[in-house]
Parts: sequence; C-alpha cells; structure tokens
Amino acid sequence: MIRIREQALPANGTVHIWSLSLDDPALDLPGLLSDDEITRFSSISHPKARLRFFRTRCALRLILASYVRRPPSELTFIPGENGKPELPTGAPRLRFNLSHSGYCFLLSVVAEYDIGIDIEQIHANRDYAALARRFFTAEESLLIDSCDNDSLFYRMWVLKEAAVKARGMKLLAGLDRFECLQSEDGDLTIRDKLEHADDNDWSIRQWLVDERFVAAVMVRGAEAEFINKTLTNTRETPVFSSRRGMQ
Ligand SMILES: CC(C)(COP(=O)(O)OP(=O)(O)OC[C@H]1O[C@@H](n2cnc3c(N)ncnc32)[C@H](O)[C@@H]1OP(=O)(O)O)[C@@H](O)C(=O)NCCC(=O)NCCS
Repeated sequence: MIRIREQALPANGTVHIWSLSLDDPALDLPGLLSDDEITRFSSISHPKARLRFFRTRCALRLILASYVRRPPSELTFIPGENGKPELPTGAPRLRFNLSHSGYCFLLSVVAEYDIGIDIEQIHANRDYAALARRFFTAEESLLIDSCDNDSLFYRMWVLKEAAVKARGMKLLAGLDRFECLQSEDGDLTIRDKLEHADDNDWSIRQWLVDERFVAAVMVRGAEAEFINKTLTNTRETPVFSSRRGMQ
C-alpha cells in the first residue's frame, strides 16, 4: 500500500509538480472514490482507460489529502463554471490542476494562485497541421506548416492548454485567445491577445517528460520555483526557476 508523508503547503512562489505512471498497480487503492467518480468509472468501456481513470482519482486524492491532512476518501471537489475542480476554500487555499495523457499523470499544486498544467503524447502520424488550422491562430498555423515539425505543434498545444486551464476557461474554447511566439533560439513564449498587461504576471515551465510526452505548466506570479515530486521520492528537488524556455 502506497503512502505519502504529510506535505507542507508549497511556500509562496513555489509550485509542486507530481509526476507518476498510471501503469503503476500501487495506485489501486480501494474505497477512495466518491459516488460520482464511481459513476464516471463505470461509464468508461475501454478497460485500460477505465483502470487509468481509477488510478488517476486514487493518486489525486492521495496526494491532495497529504497536504490538507484529511483522509483521501473525504475530499470533496467543487467544479468551477467550466468544470475546473477546486478544493473547498481553506486558509490558505490549496490550488491544483491535473493533466493526464496515456500512462502519464501530472498534478501541479500551489497555494492560492491560479494554475494550469497540460501534458500530451506526441503522435507522429497525426494531421497536426489540420488541428493547428482548426484551433490555432493563422500565424501559428503558418509557423507549423513552414517548419514541418510535429513537436512544435505539441509544444504550442500544451502551452495554450496550460494557459486556458490556469484561467479555468472552457477547455479547447480559448486556444486561439493565446498566441505562441517563437524566439530565434526556438523558445516559445505565450501572449494573451485580450489582456496584454497580464503577460508578465505568469511563470511558465515547459519540458519533455520523455521523448513521447510534452508538458507545460503556467502559474500566476512571476519567477515561480518548480519542484518535482514523485511517490517514491518525496524529497524536494528544486529543478529551476525561470519564466521561459523548454527544459
Ligand atoms: C477537451 C480535451 C482537450 C481535454 O484534454 P485532456 O488532455 O483530457 O485534459 P487534461 O488531462 O489535460 O485535463 C483534464 C483535467 O483538467 C481538470 N479540468 C477540467 N475542466 C477544467 C477547466 N475548465 N480548467 C482547468 N482544468 C480543468 C480536471 O481535473 C480534468 O481531469 P478529469 O478529466 O480526470 O476530471 C480533450 O478531451 C479533447 O477533446 N481533445 C480533442 C482535441 C484534440 O484532438 N486534442 C489532441 C490534440 S494534441
């Protein structure tokens, strides 16, 4: 049975990034899910997807419970207007955002600030140019067409989704509100087309989880420090402190 020692609330300006594999059977923890989660679980017909959903909910509850020091089964989630789940307001308030793709699970945890995270598996044969034309700005589509580089599409996608999720907007609906810009050395930055003044008030981390998964996290507040956490090693490891750039 997996256990996590009690976690201190992340310090001001610090983000915890929990990363784990949904293929890990240690996450099969009985008795944690709510009735709503069991209904969702039962509605998933594909066995692997169903198992990964179950493990996602177990991991989410286990990790968040270690911060709020409550039994994992007793946590309640309150959906925002567009479905972004939050914990009931406490003092200080623990904020989180979850993303999963294939076997990868990522959970970002912070005190107080808006946060969004996204991970996507790179599928080499996907028609990403068509997806870019559908969801991205005309300039971004042109950039993707011109460099014929599928990882650029995914890097842009996760950055935009992290921006959308940080603000609790409707998933997919806000993708063209945020514009990715590429510097000469290949780094991506993101700009809010509606609220330029807001752009400098966010910290971003982008990274490759392995060669098949791209991830990005965005948190309100400049110069955040991101700390990696895993279930097997809950020691805190500062990874970097940066606003920009692919790690
Ligand atoms: C809508 C869609 C983009 C969601 O993507 P996803 O990768 O499943 O989403 P993530 O795993 O990053 O995030 C989901 C989690 O974010 C949280 N969330 C839900 N609504 C949210 C919102 N409005 N804001 C922030 N977070 C939200 C929830 O915790 C949710 O977890 P749950 O689904 O287990 O309850 C996807 O399902 C979809 O429709 N894709 C089609 C488009 C496409 O082709 N995409 C592939 C291009 S790479």
